[in-house]
Amino acid sequence: MSEIDEEEGHTSSIKTPKQLITVVLAAFLFPVLTIILLAQLVTGDRTVDQNDPIYSDEAVAKRLKPVGRLIMASDSPQADENVGVASQAGTVAAPAAAADGADRIKTIYTASCAACHTSGAAGAPKLGDKSTWASRIKSGTDTLYNSAIKGKNAMPAKGGNASLSDADVKALVDYMVSQAK
Ligand code: HEC
Repeated sequence: MSEIDEEEGHTSSIKTPKQLITVVLAAFLFPVLTIILLAQLVTGDRTVDQNDPIYSDEAVAKRLKPVGRLIMASDSPQADENVGVASQAGTVAAPAAAADGADRIKTIYTASCAACHTSGAAGAPKLGDKSTWASRIKSGTDTLYNSAIKGKNAMPAKGGNASLSDADVKALVDYMVSQAK
């Protein structure tokens, strides 16, 4: 009686060779799969929902926004919305009538000349700095045109933007001169 009980106690649920093979395979595959999944969890790239508003260009720009920002007295209040862009200094808001041409020249100024002429980098005469410009203006507008188009010392020809037309450069010089009067 007790012998029979013992026999039953050791009875395995694996009864056929097919079951044995299944169990052996499962015992082998389970840890392997677990390791693969764990490795993926650690190294795999997370997918990000690009459409989520927190990944929008504005939201990202806001998060990357520099702590400090240069604000010029001439900046319009809305300019505050622009992120991290220091706009040109000392310019006076164009009267609505003079809009188009003047605005275009100001845009070119900001893109091609402001780097040096707003900060006074490399000894460039600062926009709106009357005393520095006075002596230059005395040498004549043509001289200034010539320096701006052909370059002068640290001043690169056309501010380094060869695509500007001579007429645009002259308009830029006129603009700079007008700001120094
Ligand atoms: C890389 C810096 C730099 C950029 C960009 C630059 N300038 Fe200048 N600019 C200078 C420097 C430096 C001087 C002073 C040169 C000197 O007198 O030795 C100067 C001088 C001038 C002068 C006075 C020239 C004279 O004969 O006294 C004019 C006009 C001028 N720049 C116009 C411009 C215009 C217009 C642009 C944009 C298209 C421009 N600059 C872009 C550096 C720059």
